[in-house]
Amino acid sequence: MRTATTALVTGANKGIGLQAVRQLAELGLTVLLGSRDPDRGARAAAELAARGVRAEPVTLDVTDAGSVRAAAEHIDDRHGVLDVLVNNAGIFLGPLSLDTTAEDLRPLYETNVFGVVTVTRAMLPLLRRSRAPRVVNVSSTTASVELTRRPEPIPGDPTRRLAYASSKAALNMLTAQYAEAFERDPELARIKVNAVAPGFTATDLNGFTGTRTAAEGARVITRLATLPDDGPSGGFFDDRGPLPW
Ligand SMILES: NC(=O)c1ccc[n+]([C@@H]2O[C@H](COP(=O)([O-])OP(=O)(O)OC[C@H]3O[C@@H](n4cnc5c(N)ncnc54)[C@H](OP(=O)(O)O)[C@@H]3O)[C@@H](O)[C@H]2O)c1
Repeated sequence: MRTATTALVTGANKGIGLQAVRQLAELGLTVLLGSRDPDRGARAAAELAARGVRAEPVTLDVTDAGSVRAAAEHIDDRHGVLDVLVNNAGIFLGPLSLDTTAEDLRPLYETNVFGVVTVTRAMLPLLRRSRAPRVVNVSSTTASVELTRRPEPIPGDPTRRLAYASSKAALNMLTAQYAEAFERDPELARIKVNAVAPGFTATDLNGFTGTRTAAEGARVITRLATLPDDGPSGGFFDDRGPLPW
């Protein structure tokens, strides 16, 4: 029986994605390090290799269907299967909420929402070949309608969240909808798909103002990426447990 497990992390040349690659590789998975820029991907893989961690760079821009297709073909040729997909690539653009235009939303939705659909659909034939497929969508606490309306503030700047938080809320609904759709299809019912919130993490995304390290932020990704067969699907988690939608 096949024991090796192959994982793809999108947007993994830095930040939380890079740490997720490291953690999954340290658990013994064969990890594909997705990067839209091949040089940045190769550099990140070389940095990991210098620390004794093996990862295979793959060029993948989630907003470019051709690039996503090519990455799926590459994974098919080299591995023939994908066990874990981490939809981590994401961007933050934060004009003041009251100044945010529909045009401001477009690039965020292209990456944070539409990109996830493009990548998930392209990887489904490979996930279908896995005995225990797992999909992790990297969302945000700011996606939670309930937490947004509580008096206690969500860390970060609440005045510039309209675009980002709404894109991650859409990602949460994609997660719930995929969970439903997978469960209805006997061939896909093995796939567990969950959304995770890494917490306010110091990365380029927020000018390194976050209070957690990228390794801490990646922990919840790694946990949901390696769920046992009796683990949850269609949920939203941080590293303390389930989060309200
Ligand atoms: N940092 C936080 O506090 C925080 C909190 C909650 C959720 N998150 C989420 O965590 C995920 C990782 O963010 P991060 O904080 O690690 O930020 P980051 O350091 O800026 O990393 C973002 C990664 O996404 C990549 N990316 C952007 N657009 C892409 C595209 N079109 N195709 C492929 N890759 C693309 C970036 O590549 P380039 O280097 O080429 O730009 C980079 O590798 C994101 O989904 C983010 O929304 C972060």
